[in-house]
Parts: sequence; C-alpha cells; structure tokens
Amino acid sequence: MESSPPTDAPLDTLSVSENDTKISTKPPVCPYQRRTSKTERVKMEKTAETLRRQLAEAVKEEDFLAAHQIKVRLGEADGDDDDDDALPDRASRTFSTARRASLANRHKEPLYYHSYLQLDKITESCHLESEKAHPGKPAHDEHLFIIIHQVYELWFKQILWELNSVIKIFKQEDVPEKDMFVVSGRLKRITEIWRIILDQLNVLETMSPTGFLEFRDFLFPASGFQSVQFRMIENQLGLDPAGRIKYGKRGYCTYLNEQHAAEVNAAEGVDTLHDLMVTWLERTPFLKMGSFDFWGHYRQGVDNMLKKDRAFIETTSGRYPDIAEKQLESVEATKKSMDTLFDEDLYNKEKASGSRFSYKALQAALLINLYQDEPIFHQPYQILNGLKDIDELMTMWRYRHSLMVHRMLGVKMGTGGSSGFAYLRATASQHRVFKDLFNLSSFLIPKDQLPELPEDYVRSINFPKHGQKTADGSEAHDDEILEMERKLAAMKMKAAQK
Ligand code: HEM
Repeated sequence: MESSPPTDAPLDTLSVSENDTKISTKPPVCPYQRRTSKTERVKMEKTAETLRRQLAEAVKEEDFLAAHQIKVRLGEADGDDDDDDALPDRASRTFSTARRASLANRHKEPLYYHSYLQLDKITESCHLESEKAHPGKPAHDEHLFIIIHQVYELWFKQILWELNSVIKIFKQEDVPEKDMFVVSGRLKRITEIWRIILDQLNVLETMSPTGFLEFRDFLFPASGFQSVQFRMIENQLGLDPAGRIKYGKRGYCTYLNEQHAAEVNAAEGVDTLHDLMVTWLERTPFLKMGSFDFWGHYRQGVDNMLKKDRAFIETTSGRYPDIAEKQLESVEATKKSMDTLFDEDLYNKEKASGSRFSYKALQAALLINLYQDEPIFHQPYQILNGLKDIDELMTMWRYRHSLMVHRMLGVKMGTGGSSGFAYLRATASQHRVFKDLFNLSSFLIPKDQLPELPEDYVRSINFPKHGQKTADGSEAHDDEILEMERKLAAMKMKAAQK
C-alpha cells in the first residue's frame, strides 16, 4: 500500500485555461440509442473545431497538460475514450505525480493495511456453532464451512457492485458509446468471478459427508436458501418471478426476515438487466436504413438455405431413401418454425409459452449475431455474449452445488427444509434468465446463405478505414483526431438516413 508519495508538481497546473472551460460539450451518444438532431450535430462540430484549434496551439507552445485536457474533452465531444498516448512522457509523468499528491492529501495519517481493509471485523467473524455447543471441542470442518460461505458472500457483494453499475448505465435514455465498452468489461468481470466461485466448491468438497454431519444439526433452520445477496443477484439479473420453483408451497421471501424480504421483494422485476437489455435491443436503429430492410434480407437468406437443403436431399435420396425422408421432415420442421418467426402475430402467440423477447428485440439480437463481424456490432455482440456467459456459469454453479449436496446429504432434506438435491437440480434447469439469447441460435443460418449486405449500408454503419471515403464522401485522413471524425461521420450518415 502506498503512503505519502512525494510531489513536485502543484495541483493547479492541472487546471484548464479560462477559454476552455467556456466550451460546453454534450456527453457522447451511442449510435444505437438515438439519432443526433441537426442542431446538436452543428454544435458538436463547432465545439470540435474550437478544441482542435486550441489543441494545435497548446502543442505548439509545448503546454502538454493543457493539450491533454483538450484531448480529453475532444474524446468527450465525440464519445471516444480519452487517450494521451500522443503526449510526450513529461506530460504523463507530471500528471501521475499530481494525482498521487492529491490522493496523499486525503489522509493525514499514513494509511495502514490492516485498518484500511477492516481486517479485525473480517477475521473475527468466524464463530463455530459446534464450539458453542461443545466448548473446546469444535467440529474441525465447520471452520472451512463458515469461511467458504463468507468468501462467497464477499464475491456476491462484488457481483452486485458490478451489476448495479451496469444497470445504471443501461438505465440512461442515451447510452454513451464508451459506456458500452465499460459494460462489456464489467460483465466479463462478473463471469470471471463466477468461474472462481464455481471452483471454490472443490475446496468445500475436501470435507467428507461425515465431517459435515459432525456439525450439520447445529445449523437448522439456517440455509444458503436465505442468502439475501444471492436473491438480489437473481432479481437484478431478471429471473422471472413467475418461473421460480416454490418449495414448501411458500414463496422464497417467506424464509427471510422482514427487512431482507422487503429488500429482495423490492428488487423483483424493477429495472432488471434482462428488461433493460430488451429495451436497448429495441432501440437499435440498424434494422431499417434507407432502402435496406434487415428482415426481408434475412428472410431471403432463410429461403436460400431451405432451397439448398431440399435440393441436396433430392440429389442424394436415390442412394439413401430412408435417411432422405427423415431429412425432409427436419427441413419442413425448420420451415414451420421459421414461418412462425416471420409472422409477428404467430410469434407473439408462441411467445406466451415462454419467450420474454419482444419481436423487435429478437430481430435486433439476430442482426447482431448474424453480422457480429461488422465493427459496429462488436460491442453489442460482446455484451450479449457476456450475458449468456453469466447465465451459463450460474447454471453450472447451481448444478455443481446440487451435486455437492447430493454427495453430502444423499436425498435427505436440506437444513432450510427443501427436498435438497431434487429441488436444487430443478433450479439448475429452470432458473435461467437469458434463455432467449440461447434460443436465438435456432434461427441462425450459415453466413454463406445470407445475401451480401448492400455496400452503402455497410459504409453507413461502420467507420471508414484510413484512406477510404468516409460515409459523407470525404477522404479519411490520419491526424490525431481521426477517431472523432470517424464517429461524427457515422452519426451524420445515420441522421441523414432518417
Ligand atoms: C456442505 C455444503 C452445502 C450443503 C450441504 C448445502 C445444502 C443446500 C441445500 C439442501 C439447499 C436447498 C435449501 C434447503 O433446503 O436448505 C441449499 C440451497 C442453497 N445453498 Fe447450499 N449447501 C452447501 C453449501 C453452500 C455454499 C458454499 C453456498 C454458497 C453461498 C451455498 C449457497 C446456497 C444457495 C444460494 C442456496 C439457494 C439456491 C436456490 O434456491 O436456488 N450453499 N443448499
């Protein structure tokens, strides 16, 4: 842990010149979320021009701190990450020294590892029930049992921390593009935590069933079933309350104390990540642009695929008539399911039997999956993938936990009163949040069956590469603010398509 770092730069060197502070820039807007109005675009362009002029002056005068500040603001003006790679070392060094000085000033006393992490509270929180019942003769494995649960709860806390931040980002009406990068990073972090806590069960399984029996009776009626943070994770992700498996014919909240039940109840169905994701997908502007209509385009791809499959079966049917019959049945089944997909009313009727995706969200998710290699869809694809990873890892955890319970208890009842193994195994198959994202794969078709995307569509959804024409026809050039211009051009194009 770092304490009282030396400083050689006054903090006020970080301030921007008076002129800079007069320029107001609007936060960037992800092209997915909405189109920019003409007035906004003009304002953004003017702001960018002023900033560019100031940047050139600052670099000329070797005022690298001011240059950095302007670059950051240029980033804000176009939705890009701030990046000071181009600044000479001297400027970056002054920056980090100043940042360290500001941190050091916050603590009059040097910070101490033990107190900063409140380790007294954490390490003093392992009290064995077996020890209370038989002073001096604790059940050895109960120590591990407690520590493992506490570590789980700490990780749950971290997952909720990340989840809340992602939900906050998704709740904005206009989601800045750089926030989407933050979202996929945090979803990735959540998946990595699940990987770790999945593995933690291996440590607990070093305890034998008889070791567990030495203290199990002291635990009644407490159970992991009462983990408030686990329930909050389920609810904030958006587990469908109607699909919850009841046990003892009672709702899951009735096993919690009054305060916890109120907290968990309040999080049910409110601003869940699942619902926010659906709304976000519905806002995708790329389904229809100019003369391009994704749905018609995709339908053509499906027809191509079915035609090709039938033709292939017909050419081979002479040799394998039995197999051909089965294959034709399978093609007809695919056609039937595709017909449902292309009829919105039929889709909505079928939807009543399980899907939580709206028709538009489904189309957007398909577009993103089918064209994941187009740069504009990279980030959305990563986000949808991240949600699937979380769903999959939680399911694996549920299943793995149920197997561990089987190993420890056989088919005995749980301390919380459930059927134990049978109940837990059922949750593994039914308590899924992002099932629709997995089901999407039923409608994916091979890429070579899809017609080529029209060139003007590809150009308008993506940023031009160096030397190529930008979406508005001008030539892309390689100066240090190229990134911003790319994004402005893409935004302009989208607004023009409206
Ligand atoms: C020897 C180890 C364990 C045994 C025998 C065990 C047993 C059980 C049983 C039988 C249930 C069903 C509810 C009940 O009737 O009590 C349950 C639920 C649960 N347990 Fe465990 N458990 C163990 C370890 C853990 C650990 C380390 C965690 C980590 C936090 C955990 C978290 C949970 C959660 C969250 C539930 C609720 C699952 C749901 O309702 O979907 N358990 N456990």
